[in-house]
Amino acid sequence: MYDFLFRHFLTRMDPEDAHHLAFSVIKAIPALRLEGLVARFTKAPVDLSVTTLGRTFPTPFGLAAGFDKDATGIRGFGALGFGHVEVGTITARAQPGNPRPRLFRLVADRAVINRMGFNNAGAAAASLRLARVRSLTRSRPVIGVNIGKSRVVEVDDAIDDYLQSTRALAPMADYLVVNVSSPNTPGLRGLQELDRLAPLLSAVKAEAGSTPLLVKIAPDLSDDEVVKISELAVSLGLDGIIATNTTISREGLKTDASTVESAGAGGLSGEPLRARSLAVLKLIRTVVPEELCVISVGGVDTAYDVDQRLLAGATLVQGYTAFLYRGPFWARSINVGLARLRKTRA
Ligand code: FNR
Repeated sequence: MYDFLFRHFLTRMDPEDAHHLAFSVIKAIPALRLEGLVARFTKAPVDLSVTTLGRTFPTPFGLAAGFDKDATGIRGFGALGFGHVEVGTITARAQPGNPRPRLFRLVADRAVINRMGFNNAGAAAASLRLARVRSLTRSRPVIGVNIGKSRVVEVDDAIDDYLQSTRALAPMADYLVVNVSSPNTPGLRGLQELDRLAPLLSAVKAEAGSTPLLVKIAPDLSDDEVVKISELAVSLGLDGIIATNTTISREGLKTDASTVESAGAGGLSGEPLRARSLAVLKLIRTVVPEELCVISVGGVDTAYDVDQRLLAGATLVQGYTAFLYRGPFWARSINVGLARLRKTRA
């Protein structure tokens, strides 16, 4: 059914309009009081829970940052079977993001290119919304909050900007993520350089208090940089690493070059990211201790992919792009598939 809709209807829509349409349906789940019903349908047939970051995640699979930028759909995503929802990226100041079009499908690659540019309503608005979700909902997914630098703030003033978001959002987060890896905010990825990253992470960690803190990194770092950042995360006492964000590489795509070129600048996600994301995960695991939470994200499509990440040392796994291709019951199919894989292995 979704396949038919996708092929004949959604692919003809502007990708961002299709995103808003799908998001309205997801938001309607709690609004129409369908949460319980949908959740019964999507619930995994066996216990898939994982305990990490001081919380029990109902399944290792969650929604990656970028879909729910303003924390408006958490309950709907939970009902659809995501064990955690990472909201954001949220910036201290509200900002419109880049001009449209800023989201492009590469259907032959099951990928997208985006240069959204952290469009969001700002940390204060998100904080109020998160407070409401936390007070209303008894059974809700685990909530991660991903923060980034406001575009108008100079890179040299980034720490104060991240601290402002941390003050507003850490009390509302089950875990907090410092995003230094999106390609669409000028200078942001430069914050991954160790002499910039160390003071930033130390300051945010001090401000975040008891909220677990993770850093999200780019797939375009060299292996040596991945190792150094992993060592830094351990030495600063961070709780985890999220790998990876989107890539600026355009290598090995099946989509014709002119289509790729006409999309322009932005981060590429989906299937083409799979191999590098898995390699980065394996590399991180050679450096960090078992108890450090590593969240693997990038090119995950099937339960087999999720299982492969878990076997390679991921504590949790996230996805985004395949949701656009697979449709609303994607998380359910991952959870059911994971349950099956576990049964055949038992
Ligand atoms: C993203 N991603 C992202 N990541 C992040 O940390 N902050 C963000 O605001 C966004 N925004 C965003 C928008 C869009 C349209 C996409 C497709 C992706 C990156 C995302 O969280 C994830 O790291 C990558 O997309 C790789 O995973 P998938 O999509 O290959 O499963």
